[in-house]
Amino acid sequence: MINFKREIANQIAKTVDLDVAELESYIEIPKEEKMGDYAFPCFKLAKILKKAPPMIAAEIKERLEIDNEVFEKVEMVGGYLNFYIAPKAFIETVSKEFEVSKEKFGSKNVGEGKTVVIDYSAPNIAKPFHIGHLRSTVIGGALYNIYQFLGYHTVGVNHLGDYGTQFGKLIEGYKRWGTEYHIEENPIDELTKIYVRINKLCEEDESVLEACRNNFKKLEDGDSYCVEIWEKFRNLSLKEFQKVYDLLGSHFDSWNGEAFYSDKMGEIVEILEEKNQLVESEGARVVSLEDKGMPPCIIEKTNGSSTYATRDLAAILYRARTYDFDKALYVTSYEQVLHFKQIFEVAKMLGISEKYTNGLEHVPFGMVRLKEGKMSTREGNFIKLEDLLQEAITRAEKVIEEKNPDLENKQEVAKKVGIGAVIFNDLSNSRIKDEVFDWDLMLNFQGETGPYIQYIYVRTKSVIEKAGYLPKVEEIDFSQLEDEDSKRIFKLLYSLEDVLQQVTDKNEPSFLSRYLIDLSQSFSTFYNNHKILGEEKKVQDARLYLTNIVGTVLKTGAGLLGMQMPDRM
Ligand code: ARG
Repeated sequence: MINFKREIANQIAKTVDLDVAELESYIEIPKEEKMGDYAFPCFKLAKILKKAPPMIAAEIKERLEIDNEVFEKVEMVGGYLNFYIAPKAFIETVSKEFEVSKEKFGSKNVGEGKTVVIDYSAPNIAKPFHIGHLRSTVIGGALYNIYQFLGYHTVGVNHLGDYGTQFGKLIEGYKRWGTEYHIEENPIDELTKIYVRINKLCEEDESVLEACRNNFKKLEDGDSYCVEIWEKFRNLSLKEFQKVYDLLGSHFDSWNGEAFYSDKMGEIVEILEEKNQLVESEGARVVSLEDKGMPPCIIEKTNGSSTYATRDLAAILYRARTYDFDKALYVTSYEQVLHFKQIFEVAKMLGISEKYTNGLEHVPFGMVRLKEGKMSTREGNFIKLEDLLQEAITRAEKVIEEKNPDLENKQEVAKKVGIGAVIFNDLSNSRIKDEVFDWDLMLNFQGETGPYIQYIYVRTKSVIEKAGYLPKVEEIDFSQLEDEDSKRIFKLLYSLEDVLQQVTDKNEPSFLSRYLIDLSQSFSTFYNNHKILGEEKKVQDARLYLTNIVGTVLKTGAGLLGMQMPDRM
């Protein structure tokens, strides 16, 4: 596609003799549409040129030699030069690109040759898959898709919480009362019960706690009985988690959880010892981070067993060696900000190449609060994610039943709409914000929701279906699309590439969610203001063509977020 910013920078460079790339970096997109499509702030040059910004603007404008086919006009407002792109230029560049890329419209190969490891989801074995893990799964999944779309080699890692002292406890509880519980049928619930019970006993009896600690030590040392039970818990839990992943359509390239690093932590300890970074503290071995203003990072507990941090350090080393990553992202709630700050500091002390330590990035997100308080909870104060997703589907089904009782495949559509609503809700605000989980808001077909985007998509499909044909690009008279509403749509289509770039710059999928809402709303305005079918053939063809691009891009974009589009709803 034509790079309009570059075009503007090139022209300005001819008048002021400054670096094109630098000039390009100054170009802004005006907040208000009537201020043009791009703006060049001349005050950025005031210091260098030693002139007042309005004077610079006037001088540049005077000397600009611009192509009227591309730029409709250039206006001076204060110290700004505002550039108005001709609708035709947007339309031409977008349609040319669309003809070659179709479903891939918006993709680029900026990531070619680069690898991004994304650590997401990571629920804990024998514990419920809770709503925080849902956010991680959804945000991480969207980032995975988007990086891939931009040409990166992506590795999705599910760093399962399948290790740690709690397994010592579970093993102890299982040894004592295993036969009383129906673990095979209902693993997470039953294991949780055992966990609660053994914890209580530990509080009452110090010797039980000691036995639990020993079990974990034994597990770390490879004791066959402990390993066997641990494997059983892991497999059963995974089977249950998989139900959630199937509903969400999640995919992982690696399931190496914390336990995978059990034989890889010795090296971390050795390196830290060698570099004189390990100090004794109350019987434990820690790395002091006092000069960084942080509490120490515990590497080895008093009884010699490893920690969450040690396993993460081993994982960094492993991922650097195995994947040779350019970026390694960690998607967790902001409760773990300190943990990641600590391990990223310690990673630097390990002497790993800067290429890797610079690529480490925590991608934190806010908490989820439920508007209605507890939902579908059995015991305990957590919500089972599978129940929650099922509830989304049931609620979507109800809405569909009201709006379109004759719809075919209601079940299937309800699944796409319900799950799509949950996914979009998770991605619709900047990730660091706490999220309120409100069924009515997220399932509102008219709100800024997943179902709204699906609804607009379905509308594009049905218009095309009604027409019964798709016009060929060679036959389109694009001058039929130079009205304001169409131009806004083409401008949005043009900006998709930039939006995706911003998503990966900030690891913020909500930029894409916002974009899809804007595109849907712009199409809705266009649809309300302009008749598509039944107009003069050349008008109808042009508008159908536009409708098809919008539908295709909505589907691509929603797919990148992890949503599926129904054909009808
Ligand atoms: N299992 C952890 C939790 O539930 C998240 C793990 C995140 N990834 C990591 N490499 N530490 O909080």
